[in-house]
Amino acid sequence: MPPSSLPTLRVRGEPLSSALAFAPMSGISNLPARLLAREAGAGLVFSETISARALVEARPSAVRKLRSHPQEGRLAVQLFGGEARFLGEAAQLLAARGVEWLDWNLGCPVKKFLRAGAGAALLEEPAKLPALMAALRRHMPGALSVKLRLGPDASHFVADEVARMAAAEGFDLVSVHGRTRSQQYRGRADRSGIARVVAAVPELPVLANGDIATPEDVFSMLADTGAAGVMIGRAAVGNPWLFAHTLAQARGERPQAPARQVRLATLERHIDWIRQSIDDPEAQTIQLRRYVAAYSKGLPGSNRFREHALRETDPARMLSLAHTFFSEPKAA
Ligand SMILES: Cc1cc2nc3c(=O)[nH]c(=O)nc-3n(C[C@H](O)[C@H](O)[C@H](O)COP(=O)(O)O)c2cc1C
Repeated sequence: MPPSSLPTLRVRGEPLSSALAFAPMSGISNLPARLLAREAGAGLVFSETISARALVEARPSAVRKLRSHPQEGRLAVQLFGGEARFLGEAAQLLAARGVEWLDWNLGCPVKKFLRAGAGAALLEEPAKLPALMAALRRHMPGALSVKLRLGPDASHFVADEVARMAAAEGFDLVSVHGRTRSQQYRGRADRSGIARVVAAVPELPVLANGDIATPEDVFSMLADTGAAGVMIGRAAVGNPWLFAHTLAQARGERPQAPARQVRLATLERHIDWIRQSIDDPEAQTIQLRRYVAAYSKGLPGSNRFREHALRETDPARMLSLAHTFFSEPKAA
């Protein structure tokens, strides 16, 4: 493959619109963020992680996370949980709601998940996994994927073994973040570890994940790992252009950094979606603050702007400051 081209990512033989995925991120990968990622060219978007048990118990906080919109296309809903009963029932419930893609979280290193025997805790006992995978497969007729870390720690690499289990249980895709559970977010994502997973499951597409910040990172990640696609998390927060620019570079274009006016227009659309899709005023304000900060990142004067704007407790005043800042006629 030429150095800056993108492969066609196929799942169950069907090509996705691009080989770039927007990662599942709690508190971030909600409907507004996913819509903007999609528009910018993400071929696949993942929901925030949702507890299988909470979904089965119809807890409002879990059900709310299923909110989608026809404009975002197919959504991969991510579940976490370590009990076959809840995983199976949640899969059944999602299938009945018309969800066409279920992703299972085997990578989250957060204590809350580990204590519940879910997320990356499950990587410590791979022998338990086939039965849990089978419970999901039995009840999800749509696409099924799993998201992994490399293993519990540097001396226990299990991601290749777990990916092979997923393939044997009829899963359709594997995503792998090139860190171990004990590493949390320290160090750099290990591309050779991701490459080992790719080599272990030639029959499945693998999404390579970790530390992608630029289009060049996407191309080098693909070249270094042989993955079928790339999953992007943190660097795409308030920066949907990362998807668009990667696709543009793959077409041989030289995209320009977005001008202030473009950022402002995108922030305003993002805010509209936040207002339409998030009912709780406190949750809305958290999101507004996050994106007012994120869209200003890298612009001249943005540190000072954030200091002022994020001190505001009234969202209307914060947005008015944002409007003034982004409308300044300085070059971006
Ligand atoms: C705030 C935050 C929340 C996250 N939540 C989830 C999650 O709910 N499920 C999951 O599988 N991974 C989660 N992740 C991990 C990301 O999906 C991704 O694997 C990780 O950030 C590495 O990719 P990146 O370097 O592109 O950000 C989260 C990461 C962050 C920063």
